[in-house]
Amino acid sequence: MYTRTSAVLFLSALVAAAPAPNPPSSHAPASHWQGQQSQASASQAPASQAPASQAPASQAPASQASGSGLPTFSAATAPIAPVRSSEVTGATSHGPYDGPSPTVTGALSHGPVSAQTIAPVPYPSPLYTNPNGLLQDPQPIPYQPAGGAGTNGTEPYYHPLSDFDYESLTLGLYQEWIELDLFHHGLATFSVAEFEAAGLTAEDRFLIEFMANQEVGHATLISNMLGAAAPPQCTYNYPFKTVREFVDFCQRLTRYGESGVYGFLGHMDSREAATLLLQSITTEARQQMIFRQFSGLFPMPVWFEVGVPQSWQWTLLAPHISECPANTTRLAWQNFPTLTILDNPNVNTINPQIGANDSSNATPGDFPSESTAVPSSNYCPDADVVGEDCSAAISRNRTNPLSYPGRPVYLSWGEAGQPIGPNNSYVTSRSPVADAPRFAMFVNQLNATYVPLLNISGNTAVAIQPNTSTFAGDPTINGTVFLAITSQDVYVTPYNLSNINPFVYAGPALYSSG
Ligand SMILES: *[C@@H]1O[C@H](CO)[C@@H](O)[C@H](O)[C@H]1NC(C)=O
Ligand SMILES: *[C@@H]1O[C@H](CO)[C@@H](O)[C@H](O)[C@H]1NC(C)=O
Ligand SMILES: *[C@@H]1O[C@H](CO)[C@@H](O)[C@H](O)[C@H]1NC(C)=O
Ligand SMILES: *[C@@H]1O[C@H](CO)[C@@H](O)[C@H](O)[C@H]1NC(C)=O
Ligand SMILES: *[C@@H]1O[C@H](CO)[C@@H](O)[C@H](O)[C@H]1NC(C)=O
Ligand SMILES: *[C@@H]1O[C@H](CO)[C@@H](O)[C@H](O)[C@H]1NC(C)=O
Ligand SMILES: *[C@@H]1O[C@H](CO)[C@@H](O)[C@H](O)[C@H]1NC(C)=O
Ligand SMILES: *[C@@H]1O[C@H](CO)[C@@H](O)[C@H](O)[C@H]1NC(C)=O
Ligand SMILES: *[C@@H]1O[C@H](CO)[C@@H](O)[C@H](O)[C@H]1NC(C)=O
Ligand SMILES: *[C@@H]1O[C@H](CO)[C@@H](O)[C@H](O)[C@H]1NC(C)=O
Repeated sequence: MYTRTSAVLFLSALVAAAPAPNPPSSHAPASHWQGQQSQASASQAPASQAPASQAPASQAPASQASGSGLPTFSAATAPIAPVRSSEVTGATSHGPYDGPSPTVTGALSHGPVSAQTIAPVPYPSPLYTNPNGLLQDPQPIPYQPAGGAGTNGTEPYYHPLSDFDYESLTLGLYQEWIELDLFHHGLATFSVAEFEAAGLTAEDRFLIEFMANQEVGHATLISNMLGAAAPPQCTYNYPFKTVREFVDFCQRLTRYGESGVYGFLGHMDSREAATLLLQSITTEARQQMIFRQFSGLFPMPVWFEVGVPQSWQWTLLAPHISECPANTTRLAWQNFPTLTILDNPNVNTINPQIGANDSSNATPGDFPSESTAVPSSNYCPDADVVGEDCSAAISRNRTNPLSYPGRPVYLSWGEAGQPIGPNNSYVTSRSPVADAPRFAMFVNQLNATYVPLLNISGNTAVAIQPNTSTFAGDPTINGTVFLAITSQDVYVTPYNLSNINPFVYAGPALYSSG
């Protein structure tokens, strides 16, 4: 059984096993991260928020701790690994980018690339089958069945092993940085009275503050795995004006933070890095559920959490990054043209179908439901009847569902070639095989469901929400789901979903269903 001390040592040993990168300007990796943390504590967080793990100045660098590469359970003297925190030392600007035109534009690329799609290839005959439930092969040691990867004694190496790994982890780090800023920013922006009016107490606010501190740890872990070129924190531009909108935005942003990672974890070359990332993303999954609870939504209306491709996550995330410091490592993922749901159900309503088509419910990408646009007679946070009340709670029933099969979903989309993301330095694009908008693709749980686009006119169309179940008794479309426009209804399953990317015409956007 762990004592508290041994658990802390175990985790810090894991982090130490992924050594801190060597920044060009510093001799001691640990003191580099530590220096950033002290700056950030001074400028961003009140003193009471400083992470408990902040290291004493006299400690040894993390790289020394990793000398043996083995977790240390007994050494009471083992150093506590320092955290990497914000590069931003002043007040962060929260608005759209208005600086000079970028000198570098577009996703990172290493060409020339001629193919536009990857063709499916049949799976070779499985090398293992088990018709009788018995062990098929001799065991290496007692109680350990044969097989598994990384089980033969080879020491783990917690770093990317390919560009795929590096780019996936770097995207993950961009996500952790915005979450760190977002949670602090929400706490700093709204008054105690505004939080209380939204039903969020001092204890709830402490939970949000704790979630921000979790992001410090996640950003540190991924930075340590990436090495010297790990991107720093940027400045951001948020689409919320009220506490309800802040919490709803957090619920959406953590949805694709979580799902973006599930999409690539099983594809990583480094199982070691995937393992550590999984241990941070399960924390993020809890954050997502808590923000649903803060929004008065049913906390987990699905049997399975969905995974989506990196470019889907980046398409949703990039519009909120206003600018990044000079030399910030760039990403190779695609920014698809924006998709707007014109009648996205408003999570602040008793009856979401009343005024659903009001222009205030038109949400591009991951924008939150506008809370101030709802008439007081339909404003669910103020209702006190079970089934209508949607103030913060562990769980809420809804008498009037947010959406339903057969509901028309009105859509409009943006163009390719639009500047987007940090310093407006990325560009929305679609592949030549995304030649026309033909299908709406609803992606949730384990399923991708296509419905034909109807009444296509210019850059608008309508799609009918499908009636589909993952397994009997589990309607697929429930919760915050991904909706994209595609040119083809290519059959994809959870592990090859990213093969749809060349056919994505616009989106995804997040649809508030359920
Ligand atoms: C995805 O995998 C399924 C099998 O699970 C296969 O039938 C399908 O063709 C694959 N799709 C693509 C686009 O590779
Ligand atoms: C152990 O497995 C790794 C791959 O996981 C392999 O590279 C290595 O050769 C194996 N070592 C032995 C002794 O079989
Ligand atoms: C982004 O813009 C800011 C402000 O103009 C500038 O300081 C920074 O170097 C730019 N970053 C990149 C990556 O070009
Ligand atoms: C950016 O990188 C270039 C080339 O490595 C270097 O000359 C320059 O000083 C760097 N700028 C900053 C602000 O780090
Ligand atoms: C809802 O809005 C869409 C897009 O603006 C429009 O085409 C449709 O006619 C509207 N439907 C209703 C019922 O108002
Ligand atoms: C909540 O909804 C479920 C499913 O519709 C229903 O069985 C249950 O009775 C409801 N509970 C309350 C308190 O309304
Ligand atoms: C959806 O499909 C289920 C199972 O076939 C059926 O019971 C239900 O009535 C359908 N709902 C709608 C709105 O069509
Ligand atoms: C498509 O347009 C036709 C003709 O204007 C209209 O009758 C129909 O309701 C529209 N379909 C949807 C789903 O809005
Ligand atoms: C949803 O995905 C699961 C798992 O791949 C599959 O078994 C099920 O048939 C799918 N449901 C539909 C309606 O395609
Ligand atoms: C979504 O899930 C909630 C909670 O289980 C349930 O009450 C609701 O009926 C579901 N909505 C749909 C459209 O299946």
